[in-house]
Amino acid sequence: MKRTKIKELLNAEAALDPVLVKGWVRTKRDAKSFSFIELNDGSCLANLQIVAAGELANYDEIRHLTTGAALSVQGRMIASQGAGQKWELQAQNLVLIGSSPDTYPLQKKRHTDEFLRTIAHIRPRTNKYGSAFRIRALLAHAVHQFFNDRGFFYIHTPILTASDCEGAGEMFRVTTLSPQIDNIEEDFFGVEANLTVSGQLEAEMMALALGDVYTFGPTFRAENSNTRRHAAEFWMVEPEMAFCDLKEDMAVAEDLVRHLVRTVMDQCPDDLNLFARFVDKQLMPRLEKLVGTCFERLPYTEAVKILETAAQDFEYPISYGADLQAEHERFLTETYFNGPVIVYDYPETLKPFYMRLNDDARTVAAMDVLVPGIGEIIGGSQREERHDILASRMDRMALSREKYWWYLESRRYGSVPHSGFGMGFERMVMLLTGIVNIRDVIPFPRTPKHIDF
Ligand code: 4AD
Ligand code: MG
Repeated sequence: MKRTKIKELLNAEAALDPVLVKGWVRTKRDAKSFSFIELNDGSCLANLQIVAAGELANYDEIRHLTTGAALSVQGRMIASQGAGQKWELQAQNLVLIGSSPDTYPLQKKRHTDEFLRTIAHIRPRTNKYGSAFRIRALLAHAVHQFFNDRGFFYIHTPILTASDCEGAGEMFRVTTLSPQIDNIEEDFFGVEANLTVSGQLEAEMMALALGDVYTFGPTFRAENSNTRRHAAEFWMVEPEMAFCDLKEDMAVAEDLVRHLVRTVMDQCPDDLNLFARFVDKQLMPRLEKLVGTCFERLPYTEAVKILETAAQDFEYPISYGADLQAEHERFLTETYFNGPVIVYDYPETLKPFYMRLNDDARTVAAMDVLVPGIGEIIGGSQREERHDILASRMDRMALSREKYWWYLESRRYGSVPHSGFGMGFERMVMLLTGIVNIRDVIPFPRTPKHIDF
């Protein structure tokens, strides 16, 4: 007999009969001559209530079942007498697949996020983390759906690379050399190699052939910043569009955020409700606002003016030419505008080599999308398509023309205006759940000094 998922059983219009379910015991209550078992199989937040009668041949074993044990149950779905569920399963055959001794680390009480991080191999079995990872899965699907519906091609950009796209030098070296050997020519690639910080440069090459493309994969940054919104390994969604300027780029970014929020609101109401009730009371109003309003747009210069005159003390001073820190971003989006904001046209000195120089020769066509609770969720730009301007900007930033010869060459043959952006996938999950620490939206997070599991 084929196993049915609990989600399907609970959503069924009529009782399915007979059924086979498999899952893990969440709780058990014993009455005089029968037991109630709450079974969860991960397909949804809700448990299936199982009624195991004393007549079952292995009832003695059933009475000793503990939280965490894995079961297979065959039986009939019947309308539930009790409150709280429409259906329950009357067990006809219950098999213990895997027992769970009482050292099982999850108790009925609520555990702290800090504790649960130390048992990352078990924490997906809690309600909160189960919901977070189901939302994460749906979100990934929604990303593909958004771009596929718009005729974008999903491309795969390399994870091993010799480039430093962001020019920030925050890369993880990849080598097969033993520590005693320092001759780079003997290394696997014969040159310094690292894990990618962004698939953008290669995505640009693909956009200049296929038009609209996106890459969606893991990226790696060795920034030693132990913050709540930085991980060493995270996923980025990076669309790249030929014949596209900054204005259109911003419109796509806004559409994407809205599409993702709407999809999760439509398709994950139960999981979302858990976060709205127990994690962040402001979650639903904030999400409603994200789908319902246009994103504010303002140039960096204006953002700085607002911050300079703000009646708030910042840890980092702000003036023209200074980078916006998390506290500034959050002031703009949470306090000043109380909604999503796109800041654009940043000083050239603050941004990487590939961004297009504006006519003022001081700013570049960059844009960052800022959202409440997170700050920057998307960073993007129009790319410098003019060969000579790009080459001289690279010289000034000490990037080797020889090493990036292929990137420069793309500006010689049929160069066109093009734009793109990168959306931090984990930050999107944070936005959608109200979870404030990036370590809690990644099943097995990697941060400085943490690579267990
Ligand atoms: O703003 P960033 O650095 O932009 C780029 O890498 C561009 N090459 C993207 C492009 O135009 N194709 O990063 C993009 C986004 C940020 O806005 C942030 O949401 C996320 O990636 N991000 C991180 N997320 C988690 N941990 C980190 N260490 C992150 N660094 C960036
Ligand atoms: Mg950025």
